[in-house]
Amino acid sequence: MPGERRLTVDEDLRLKMLMPLFELSNALMSEVNLERLLALVVEIVSHETRADRVSLMLLDKSGQELAIKAAVGLPSDVVRTAMEKVGRGIAGSVAKSGKPILLNGEVEHKDRVVSGRTSSALCVPLAVGGRVIGVLNSSKTGEENRFTQSDLQLLSILAGQAAIAIENARLFQSVEIQQARLEELLRELLKAQEEERERISAEIHDSVAQWMVSASYHAQSSSALILESKLDEAADELEQATRIIGQSIRELRRIVTDLYPPALTELGLQEALRQNIECFRKETGAQCRLRGGLTQDLSPVHQIVVYRVVQEALNNVRKHARASEVDINIGFQRGRFRVEIRDDGQGFKVRSALEAGLSEGRMGLLTMKGRAEMLGGSLNIESSEKAGTRVTLTIPVSLAGSARRGESGVRGGVA
Ligand SMILES: Nc1ncnc2c1ncn2[C@@H]1O[C@H](COP(=O)(O)OP(=O)(O)OP(=O)(O)O)[C@@H](O)[C@H]1O
Ligand SMILES: [Mg+2]
Repeated sequence: MPGERRLTVDEDLRLKMLMPLFELSNALMSEVNLERLLALVVEIVSHETRADRVSLMLLDKSGQELAIKAAVGLPSDVVRTAMEKVGRGIAGSVAKSGKPILLNGEVEHKDRVVSGRTSSALCVPLAVGGRVIGVLNSSKTGEENRFTQSDLQLLSILAGQAAIAIENARLFQSVEIQQARLEELLRELLKAQEEERERISAEIHDSVAQWMVSASYHAQSSSALILESKLDEAADELEQATRIIGQSIRELRRIVTDLYPPALTELGLQEALRQNIECFRKETGAQCRLRGGLTQDLSPVHQIVVYRVVQEALNNVRKHARASEVDINIGFQRGRFRVEIRDDGQGFKVRSALEAGLSEGRMGLLTMKGRAEMLGGSLNIESSEKAGTRVTLTIPVSLAGSARRGESGVRGGVA
């Protein structure tokens, strides 16, 4: 019966159209590796449209340029190098308009995306929620072999599915990258915590713990001398014990303040820095100025990082620079907080100091760098014999919320 045959042929045709979609949907569910997914898409397209060449191009971050990410039937140098500006050539026009193009007859490719004679070319956009993320190009070379309207329809549906799959794979990839970064940060944090504990433990052991043992000996000796009625000598011993206990109290206070400066929570970063600078001035006799200021609030984590970096930079000036002037500049600049500590001291060879740092147990510069990077920022150190040393910390800060009070950077006078 001709009517029934026609029905079967139609159903066959529909099934034939649905199969690649089914395959691609399967890929969408199962393939989260972006590279493999793109290769699979061009393979399915080349198979289903019997195209000689297929390429999948994605837009770059700026959304202005297309680059080939997967291809079939194209020379590898073309795949590696071919780019297309949005609005130019076939692919660029499709990316701009979001509408497919079907060309039959001699197709010229000034753009080198497809080289050689082409009798038929079909290019469809890859779009998600109306936003173009790339294009799918396919072309044929034989005179008899041309794309039809049905190819265009099929490729458009395939492209819709492929675009969603690509977005999913990209999301998956970025989540994976973020997770790996988080795990790395957590490892660094735990390591830094352990190192800090080790440092504090060694500091207490080498100073206060030993001094208290010595004070205890002096006290014991004093009581023995009292029993022997040698009161003058006993008084001497007691005096020694009192002196050592006083020294220990001062050292303990220093260690406690160093662990978490009380001024930071009580008075804020700017005041805590001022106090630190005041101590530095008194201890070294060098001039030290704080310029600029906080024109918006910083999170507690940002504050402690800034405080620690300035503290270590000043420690280094105190220990190594022999400087007579130190300038500290703080301020916001284009969504970043910037701290610069400049001294006019003797300078040093930065690269070799950093390289030797780990093996020699000099951790100051490396810890500063680590702290900056943990907040997604950076630490730059420039130093020369003539010009002294400049340490610059830059950390990204969020400008959202009512905390924003301006971004002019340097504010306020000189401390
Ligand atoms: N401002 C500076 N002026 C001159 N030399 C410096 C300055 N800052 C650092 N250095 C040099 O760089 C080296 C490494 O500094 P870093 O802070 O890493 O270690 P450290 O101060 O020697 O020891 P730690 O900080 O672990 O107590 C120092 O030993 C010193 O030679
Ligand atoms: Mg140091």
